[in-house]
Amino acid sequence: MSTFRIDGCTALITGASAGLGAEFARQLASRAGGLVLVARREERLAQLRDELTKRDPNLNVLIRATDLSRSEDVAALCDWLEHEQIAIDLLINNAGLGDYGDVSTSDSSRIAEMINVNVTALTLLTRRIVPRIIEQGRGAIVNVSSSAGFLPIAGMAIYAATKAYVTSFSEALRMELRGSGVGVTAVCPGPVHTEFNTVAKRRGAKARTAPEFTHVSAAAVVRATLRAVERDQPLVIPGLVMKIGMALIRATPMPLLRFAARFDRAR
Ligand SMILES: NC(=O)c1ccc[n+]([C@@H]2O[C@H](COP(=O)([O-])OP(=O)(O)OC[C@H]3O[C@@H](n4cnc5c(N)ncnc54)[C@H](OP(=O)(O)O)[C@@H]3O)[C@@H](O)[C@H]2O)c1
Repeated sequence: MSTFRIDGCTALITGASAGLGAEFARQLASRAGGLVLVARREERLAQLRDELTKRDPNLNVLIRATDLSRSEDVAALCDWLEHEQIAIDLLINNAGLGDYGDVSTSDSSRIAEMINVNVTALTLLTRRIVPRIIEQGRGAIVNVSSSAGFLPIAGMAIYAATKAYVTSFSEALRMELRGSGVGVTAVCPGPVHTEFNTVAKRRGAKARTAPEFTHVSAAAVVRATLRAVERDQPLVIPGLVMKIGMALIRATPMPLLRFAARFDRAR
């Protein structure tokens, strides 16, 4: 069992300019020794760095503007980490985006962006960083997946499939890293109020909202995730309602899910 303690760690957080990523940074700030914040919007990262270092001048916060949909940018980020000898021991693959609507009407550049960020960047970053964490003999990887990854979702087919990949990849990586001192935790939140819906909504389409009782706050998602990392748990579904809901979904045979989906589509 991995016995990773967050205190004093150096964490790299992708998608730190908003939502869950910014919340990871805020909660880790009081415990980590250093943070590397990654996203495209550099001014947001700089604002967050200033907020965190004002609170704790001893915290080392580095920011790196990176477009994770471009594999050359992912490689440049990893080269920079190596060149600057920044030893990451907590990698939080959080950046991600969705797209609400059917495959037949989707935009091909949005499809590529979603797969590149949610799947390719997460995999390539892990591939580059994990050998160095293994060398250090202790560390953890957090992959922010989604409850959407537990079932095929019409109207969100590609996003749900990317998150099925993230959950499966995390479980297999965890098996490979057993005994190395490096833990892997996949977090599968249900709906959380962040910028996710605004990004996922297509122009002119109606906003999609899940019932409020299914929502969990970003703060609660991050708290549950960091607790799970220190307990070396493979999978965390934050919030009691989502935990129960997903336990039922995961126990439901596929033919029954297909049948139920007919009524959902007819609504
Ligand atoms: N909110 C939910 O309901 C929910 C539920 C389950 C799972 N999740 C997952 O949680 C994770 C965080 O999402 P969120 O809810 O916090 O959404 P958010 O508020 O929209 O934040 C998404 C983050 O990802 C970054 N990002 C997007 N595209 C990027 C790119 N090409 N290169 C670099 N960074 C990029 C964004 O930064 P820039 O735009 O500055 O690049 C932003 O910091 C995602 O993986 C999402 O799938 C969210």
